[in-house]
Amino acid sequence: MGGTTRTLGLVGSGAGGVEGLRGGLVEPLVRSGWRIAVTLTPTAGRWLRATGAADELARITGLPVRVDARMPGDSRPHPSADVYAVVPASANTIAKLAVGIADNQALTTINEAIGTPGVPVVVFPRINAAHARHPRWDSHVAALRAAGVHLVDGEDVWPLHEARAEPPRDLPWQHIRERIVTATA
Ligand SMILES: Cc1cc2nc3c(=O)[nH]c(=O)nc-3n(C[C@H](O)[C@H](O)[C@H](O)COP(=O)(O)O)c2cc1C
Repeated sequence: MGGTTRTLGLVGSGAGGVEGLRGGLVEPLVRSGWRIAVTLTPTAGRWLRATGAADELARITGLPVRVDARMPGDSRPHPSADVYAVVPASANTIAKLAVGIADNQALTTINEAIGTPGVPVVVFPRINAAHARHPRWDSHVAALRAAGVHLVDGEDVWPLHEARAEPPRDLPWQHIRERIVTATA
């Protein structure tokens, strides 16, 4: 770390495993000295507010958890980040990012990061086999890769199962953490 605090802009969307962000990403990285600014999509925000998990993330990070856009004239509640990550990224959020749709604060943040030279963006698509068979899926992923996005995917990382036939499993947290850390190295 060299005494330098790195900042992660972390976006969670409405996909399985978002409830594990605290233990899988936020607590381990905060322990390693990272500052983390969490933004949730409206779906993920609804889920994590209902359980109190959003408040816990705010307490642990020391920053507000964003869901809504600020009012014009309000100051920015989050610092700029050295690296951004979308974990988990739903198929919906991936599709919107691939074409630049920014109709919520989480997408606004990540679209801007994708368009900013030198700012790494790490994305973990938390999808099933049906999502991957959508006729546009391959082109969405290709567009993001071409833009320099670091995709955490592949058979060794997240083998795809059919919808509703997935075994219970954790997200590949350690792998995701490593990709975030190495993206800034
Ligand atoms: C319980 C539950 C689990 C879901 N898990 C996933 C998932 O793992 N991956 C995914 O792409 N969509 C999943 N969805 C569907 C998304 O939540 C839905 O497409 C939503 O519009 C995503 O919005 P967002 O991308 O703005 O968060 C799930 C929905 C529910 C209700």
